[in-house]
This record gives sequence, C-alpha cells and structure tokens, in this order.
Amino acid sequence: QHRLPHLHGPPRDIAGSERKDLPKGYQISQFDIPIAEKGYLDLDIPMEFGGGHRRFGVTRVHMEEDAGKLLHSESGSFSQVDLNRAGVPLLEIVSEPDMRTGIEAAEYGAEIQRVVRYLGVGNGNMQEGSLRCDVNVSVRPIGQSEFGTKVEIKNMNSFSEISRAIDYEISRQILLHKESQADKIVQETRLWDESSQKTFTMRKKEGLADYRYFPEPDLPEVVLTSDYIDEIRNSMPELPEAKRRRYENMGLSMQDVIFLANDDIVAHFFDSTLERGADAKLAANWIMGDITAYLKNEKLSIDEIKLTPLELSELIAFIKNGTISGKIGKEILVELITKGGTVKSVIEEKDLVQIADPAAIEAMVDKVLAENPKQLEQYRAGKTKLQGFFAGQVMKASKGKASPVLLNKILGEKLKGN
Ligand SMILES: *[C@@H]1O[C@H](CO)[C@@H](O)[C@H](O)[C@H]1NC(C)=O
Ligand SMILES: *[C@@H]1O[C@H](CO)[C@@H](O)[C@H](O)[C@H]1NC(C)=O
Repeated sequence: QHRLPHLHGPPRDIAGSERKDLPKGYQISQFDIPIAEKGYLDLDIPMEFGGGHRRFGVTRVHMEEDAGKLLHSESGSFSQVDLNRAGVPLLEIVSEPDMRTGIEAAEYGAEIQRVVRYLGVGNGNMQEGSLRCDVNVSVRPIGQSEFGTKVEIKNMNSFSEISRAIDYEISRQILLHKESQADKIVQETRLWDESSQKTFTMRKKEGLADYRYFPEPDLPEVVLTSDYIDEIRNSMPELPEAKRRRYENMGLSMQDVIFLANDDIVAHFFDSTLERGADAKLAANWIMGDITAYLKNEKLSIDEIKLTPLELSELIAFIKNGTISGKIGKEILVELITKGGTVKSVIEEKDLVQIADPAAIEAMVDKVLAENPKQLEQYRAGKTKLQGFFAGQVMKASKGKASPVLLNKILGEKLKGN
C-alpha cells in the first residue's frame, strides 16, 4: 500500500523577480512520497543516430499543480499572467543522469511522449506546453566518478531544440575546462535561445532550502491498494517498447520497427492489417512506402484516409496470388485511399485482372518483336540491353496487365531462340 500525503510549498521563483503565480499563493506538490519511483524507460535509438537499445532510469514521478505563466511586454513596461493552466494537475518525471548526448535525452523525451499518446492520457504536444522538458547538464574529466557542477536549461520547445541545447551546453562546459576556467561553471538556470543556438544565464540557482514545505490540510490521504494498481496495469494498452519487441520478433528491420511503433495510430493500422492475415513485411512496405508518401503529400494522418486495413490486406493477397501485378496494385491503392471501396470492386470496374495466360502473352511478344525489326537487329548484334525496351513495349500493349514474371520468361526465350 502506498500512502500519498499531499504537501505544498510557496510559489516557485522562476526567474529572478519573476514569480510563477498561483492565485492562492502556494503550489501543491508531492514531496517525500511521490506517486512512483525507481523506474526505467527502455527505448531504441533510431539508426540515423547510431542505433542501439538503451535503458534510462527514472528517479521519481510526482504530481503537482501547474502554475501561472508570466508574459512580459517587449517594452518591459507591463506583464500579463496566463492562469489557464494554474491549478491543473501535472506529472513531473525526473530521470536518472543516464544520458550522455543531446540525442539520447531527446529520444528519452520522445519515448515519454509516445507513452503518453499510447495511453491516451494527453496529446504530448511540446508546442502547446502539454509536455515540457527541462534538463540538467554537467561534464566531468575522464576517470572522475563524481558528476561536475550541473547547469539547468529551460525554454526548449521541441525534441530537436532539447538535443541541440544539450550538445551546445556540453561543448560550452568542455571548453571552459580546456581553458582552465572550470570555476566559471556554476549552478544556475540558463535559457536556450533558438535564434542564436546558444544558452544564456537566466538566474543563479538558489538551493532547495528556499522551498518551505508543509502538509496540505485540505487534501485527504490517497491509498493505492495492490489490487487497484494491478487493475490499472491490466487495463493498459501495449506500450511502445513491448510493441517494438513484438515487431522485431516478426523479423522486421529495426528501421521498420521504429517507424511503425513511433505513432500509435500507424501501429494500430499495421496491427489491424496483420489481423486480416497480411504478411508483416509486405504490409510494412506498403505503409512505409506508398501510403506514407501520400499522407505526407496531403498532410493527412492514416486514420483520415478511406483505405481500411482490411482492404490493404486484400490488396496484398491479390498481388501475392497473381491476380494483379504490383504496378496495378499501386494504382488501386491510390483509388482506395481517395475513394474507398474494395480491391475486388476496383479490379472488376476497371478490368485490371493480370494477364497470366502464356499464349496471350506470347502473342503480344511476337507482335512487339515483329513491329520493331530495327531494335531486334540491334539486339542480335549484341545490344542485349534492349530486352528492357521490348518488355516495356509488351507491358504497354497489355495496359500494364501482363504478368511481369511470365512476360520476362517468354520474352527471354523468344530472344534467345531467335
Ligand atoms: C536539476 O537539478 C535540480 C537541483 O537538484 C533539481 O531540482 C531539478 O529538478 C533538476 N531538473 C531536472 C530537469 O532534472
Ligand atoms: C486471390 O486473393 C483474393 C483476396 O484474398 C481472393 O479474393 C481471390 O479469390 C484470390 N484469387 C486466386 C486466383 O487465388
């Protein structure tokens, strides 16, 4: 059983004379008994950032109420307070100092965002402030076990900014060490400035002692039984890490795994397609290839198009069993994405069934060879690359419906035999 007494402290100073305001004059926050502690988060670093599996420790997760935000006028003559979020509960997740680069920290943040989205407990948008992140950065000489003086950075509005702010701060501190000016690294809060790509001092840090905590008398104690915790655990959806490991076990490449599990809506579409019997690699290829290209172009999400997982699995089956060619499949896909309907109805409507009758294909091959005597002569003189030209002509004559496998086989035999 976990007991969670609620405690409160005075409003926190955010910047020098600035105060993060709450109308009631203090902020409720969990202090010595947080809602969770000693956890971890597993994630896969994308290949473009070097790849690899990482585990980052989570020190604690505590609840507190959000405070108001001060907005200062350009002239400095007045300020406004945005109280829209004041008093709204939030979770603060404090990690262990396990990250070594800006990318690692940004990927940790991105994984928290995925978890929030998978759970459906928030949109996790950093631009809207639904997910915020401050970081502490310190460096130490090789061989030293204790951490150096840490500097806190705020004001990063995207994972990319987090990554760049940390890397900038690391190099700033290393440079001070190299110049024998390590004493200039002091406990302070710095702000990331996106326009200059640098961090600047906001205020020198005051210690934790500045916060005076005392029990909040208006809130009852919360008791979480193990049954209740189990109930929550059992009602949770599959989380990103479990999904990635499941996809990996299907034999998908790490690039596919990370792409598909990145967005819960895409992952759901992929899972539903597999449930209809589609092959994992083929479904992944369609989703990551033609479908994603279309979505990017039209700025749509995969749940906003007319194509259903059932029809994608049908499309894959129709190509696999040779009813239609892959090329025709791409045309049908666009039709399904924009207009909906079924693969079967589009094939019938447009008469797209693949020509798999060897006699019919042979007749087309003969016709193309007869109509292009000059190219045939060049082919015989050694320009064998022209086989592609003939194949293209036959495919054109068949309106794209000739089975490519049969076409190449028959054409090859004809050219050799002639
Ligand atoms: C940074 O360190 C300070 C002082 O220990 C702590 O209060 C704060 O929560 C830390 N911030 C982050 C983002 O870990
Ligand atoms: C090919 O697969 C589709 C979709 O499952 C099915 O409707 C069709 O009958 C199959 N055709 C052949 C020739 O097996």
